[in-house]
Amino acid sequence: MKCTMIDPILGFSKLSKQEKIDWVAERYTHDPAQTKKLLKQYWNTASKVQKLHDEFIENTITNYYLPLGIAPNFLINGKLYAIPMAIEESSVVAAASKAAKFWFDRGGFKTEVLGTEKIGQVHFMYDGDPEHLKTFFKAVKPMLIKDAKPLSINMEKRGGGIVTIELRNKTAQLKDYYQLHCTFETMDAMGANFINSCLEQFAETFKREAQQYAVFNEKEKQIEIVMSILSNYVPNCLVRAEVSCPISELTLSESVTPEEFADKMIRAVHIADVEPHRAVTHNKGIMNGIDAVVLATGNDFRAVEAGVHAYAAKEGHYKSLTHARIEHGVFKFWLEIPLALGTVGGLTTLHPLVGLALEILQNPTAKELMQIVAVAGLAQNFAAVSSLVTTGIQEGHMKMHLLNILNQLEATEQEKTTIVDHFKNHTVTYSAVVAKLDKLRSRP
Ligand code: MEV
Repeated sequence: MKCTMIDPILGFSKLSKQEKIDWVAERYTHDPAQTKKLLKQYWNTASKVQKLHDEFIENTITNYYLPLGIAPNFLINGKLYAIPMAIEESSVVAAASKAAKFWFDRGGFKTEVLGTEKIGQVHFMYDGDPEHLKTFFKAVKPMLIKDAKPLSINMEKRGGGIVTIELRNKTAQLKDYYQLHCTFETMDAMGANFINSCLEQFAETFKREAQQYAVFNEKEKQIEIVMSILSNYVPNCLVRAEVSCPISELTLSESVTPEEFADKMIRAVHIADVEPHRAVTHNKGIMNGIDAVVLATGNDFRAVEAGVHAYAAKEGHYKSLTHARIEHGVFKFWLEIPLALGTVGGLTTLHPLVGLALEILQNPTAKELMQIVAVAGLAQNFAAVSSLVTTGIQEGHMKMHLLNILNQLEATEQEKTTIVDHFKNHTVTYSAVVAKLDKLRSRP
């Protein structure tokens, strides 16, 4: 039978790695031989690493590299850190490093974990008397905990476990909709597997016991479990990071006085508080720092992103995650952010670079990592907004982007050195770099 572009492939996951590569290259790329070569260039066959990577997901064909950089000089609660960041955006590590050094000279970052509560929910439908459900829940709750004991026992030994199980009536929002809203303490683990396993056990026990509960009529016995899943919205798994200094020490830019700078920073934050278009970009700058450390330490940046943005909208409209104020001549700049992170389990023992990133961070607990990550976000936002309200972002950004442009134009190492030197005192634009390179190349 002739295969067309709209025929699905069946059993793709059963093909060998080479067969998958051949299929993709031949079916979807203009130069299959080159595609195959490129994919293999990124293999790491000299060690066990490739096999580990192959087994992280299904249908692995190669590795996708991101640079891992280091932002040094982060003084956090008196302890000095060099922060590993995995990110492709040219200016992020440079900006973080610059902010770290600036605040190092002004006492560093102060941080505090405000809570570590994780959340999971069993969502179910119940068509019956809410009072019957309440009495059933009261009766079944000890059994929910007992049945989940084999799952929670190890977490309890580490000091965590199931914290609360609450019945919530959500029928005002959706007919017949109720939930078991559960909270957990997962210590140094992010805890997704632990929470989801407990929730699925709660659901099983809940349904089983409902079918035998004498007070329920036949319809009430038919509780429908819709799903059991952790929530990535963790407003009580919260960390705060702050910097402060006398206004007179805000000597960041020659173009503005320290007082003007402080006022401009506060105004910029207020704009992000009232204007969602700006708030999203403002918070994106924070996430430049946060995601880079979350990724380097093998945590789930999609979970963090989803939770953080929900938190930014918790008051009914999307706002800045950072705040700024002047108190008795002191400029204060801070961030409060929910972060569910782990330093054990997951990728932490599997991905060699994650292990290394954690070692560089002096093997932090999950709580310490929350503080480090929050600091990276605060530093990044300080760097971005301070550029925006003074020189503008492009000056620094384009300087960092210069090497990307030169690589795109296939400049030699010698050409790069000459051109980087030239642009130390000139504004970087794509056309200015092209012109300079052309001039250099046309020299006899
Ligand atoms: C770019 O990645 C991030 C910024 O846009 C953040 C901001 O505007 O605050 C510079």
